[in-house]
Amino acid sequence: MSDSPILVLGARGKTGRRVVARLDRLGRPFRAASRSSGTRFDFADRDTWGPALAGAGAVYLIPMNEAVSAATVGEFLTTAAQAGVRRVVLLSARGVGGAVDPYQEPVELALRATDLEWTILRPAWFAQNFGEDLFLEPIRSGELALPTGEGREPFVDAEDIADVATAALTRDGHAGEIYELSGPEPVSFRTAVEMISEATGRRIRYTPLEASQFTAALGAQGVPPEVADLLADLLGRIRDGAGEHVSDGVRRALGRDPRPFADYVKTAAAAGTWSD
Ligand SMILES: NC(=O)c1ccc[n+]([C@@H]2O[C@H](COP(=O)([O-])OP(=O)(O)OC[C@H]3O[C@@H](n4cnc5c(N)ncnc54)[C@H](OP(=O)(O)O)[C@@H]3O)[C@@H](O)[C@H]2O)c1
Repeated sequence: MSDSPILVLGARGKTGRRVVARLDRLGRPFRAASRSSGTRFDFADRDTWGPALAGAGAVYLIPMNEAVSAATVGEFLTTAAQAGVRRVVLLSARGVGGAVDPYQEPVELALRATDLEWTILRPAWFAQNFGEDLFLEPIRSGELALPTGEGREPFVDAEDIADVATAALTRDGHAGEIYELSGPEPVSFRTAVEMISEATGRRIRYTPLEASQFTAALGAQGVPPEVADLLADLLGRIRDGAGEHVSDGVRRALGRDPRPFADYVKTAAAAGTWSD
């Protein structure tokens, strides 16, 4: 398996590009794939599946299940197995109390129904949402307004997710494991914003919203109602305390503790993430 390329989906996303960087450093053959990557791959365009899978021994699977149906991902897994893939590492998500996130469950079940060797990663919310995604522009604008109240989440560093994913893709001993991945302690959004404010010297405010205010604000920005409702649901779970628990997956997979949120903030601030 070590000579076959590893197909990395979502290769320009928050975890995919970090997995690609690690495989590159290890000198392992890989194929970086997504709709805008060197290897074009689109779940919605089956003509892109075969070329991306040709000769691959393992796949880092980011199902993007907000946009792609579990049935499509299941068909992709069948195609992958027929193409000779033996190992799949799936990026899923944490649910409440050790359960799988209900939005991710159909894809997990589809993968577990195959004969492929699988490892499932169930991360908490990523620290990098603050600097590379959803929360970046609000933070740059000086106000992050969310329906999360004073709820706390042990944000996980995408560097840790990529370390676990790379280990599971390239080494034996992770087959059949479900790793719940979180940071070492829960942090509220108010505290997260204060930490970023302090590290950058910028005035940034956290404003708790009602779910209806949040979805209305997203609607005004042109976000489709089903995406706004999904985000409000996921963030509402944090408000209700369902995301607070710390998970031991980084230690189980790698034998070390996860990176603290404070380290992420320090590194991202030093890199100018929140500068204009
Ligand atoms: N962010 C979090 O806090 C978090 C927490 C837990 C779980 N998750 C899960 O992690 C996964 C990744 O989510 P993310 O928001 O963090 O995204 P991301 O990994 O930062 O980006 C995903 C990448 O997927 C590619 N993509 C999008 N639609 C595609 C399609 N139809 N076919 C092929 N590739 C496509 C995009 O690249 P191109 O535009 O180049 O195609 C994008 O760069 C999701 O399934 C999410 O549920 C996220």
